[in-house]
Amino acid sequence: MLKLVVLSDLHLRPEGVLSHGLDTHDRLVQGIDWLNRMHSDADLCVLAGDLVDLGEKEAYERLKHQVVRAKVPVEMTIGNHDDRDTFVSVFGDKVLSETGHVDKAIDVKGYRIIILDSAITGEPAGRLEPAQLTWLAARLDEAADKPVIVVIHHHANPLMTRVDKIILQNGMAFAQVLSRHKDIRQVIAGHVHYTSTAIWKGIPFTTVAGGHYSVQAMLDPEKPVPRLTGPAQMAVILGGKDGTTVHFDDYINGNPVLSVG
Ligand SMILES: [Fe+2]
Repeated sequence: MLKLVVLSDLHLRPEGVLSHGLDTHDRLVQGIDWLNRMHSDADLCVLAGDLVDLGEKEAYERLKHQVVRAKVPVEMTIGNHDDRDTFVSVFGDKVLSETGHVDKAIDVKGYRIIILDSAITGEPAGRLEPAQLTWLAARLDEAADKPVIVVIHHHANPLMTRVDKIILQNGMAFAQVLSRHKDIRQVIAGHVHYTSTAIWKGIPFTTVAGGHYSVQAMLDPEKPVPRLTGPAQMAVILGGKDGTTVHFDDYINGNPVLSVG
């Protein structure tokens, strides 16, 4: 069985600097500790972008120090808060595919995991470039006999709330490419800092709350949205031959224990 862990929206800053009043480095330390304690049997952990908050080099170096502590292999892509060039300067140009983006395909336990870089420099919304869509089509075609999980920073499916202002701009084109594969098990995103699941265009989509602040579901378009200190959350995806399940594992500010049974 495949076990894949996805963390997102780490929003690291340089030492001593908080983000929205939170020590995001300390939260990542707790996240890696949790990963090592609870999920050291995972096949892979993917960090789904907004790795740092303002693209600072020192923040990427702090990330690197935490990634090497993980007891499972870690892969990454970037989000709208990242700076692609600075990320590459710290992690090396092997993180880039031939698309020039932080895209990668990994085969594990009979699954194909595809990681996509949806960041547009300087913009909160996302996009996949034509070269990336062509690359994605090729990666899907060569894995026609395998179930596929895609990890991408931006949500492609409309959540029907105000976060759709910062959605993946060419989600329809993305969905059209995905539709060439008959067994897309999940498309997992971060970006919106809250949990959702959906079927869109016949494909299952999920967002994970991630490591930074979370927000309440924005169901009232008029109401201000409070930022919450938690939960900080990772998605734990268990994949068998016939089915794939996403669990949401809160590692900060989860529910207090009522009893143990
Ligand atoms: Fe974020």
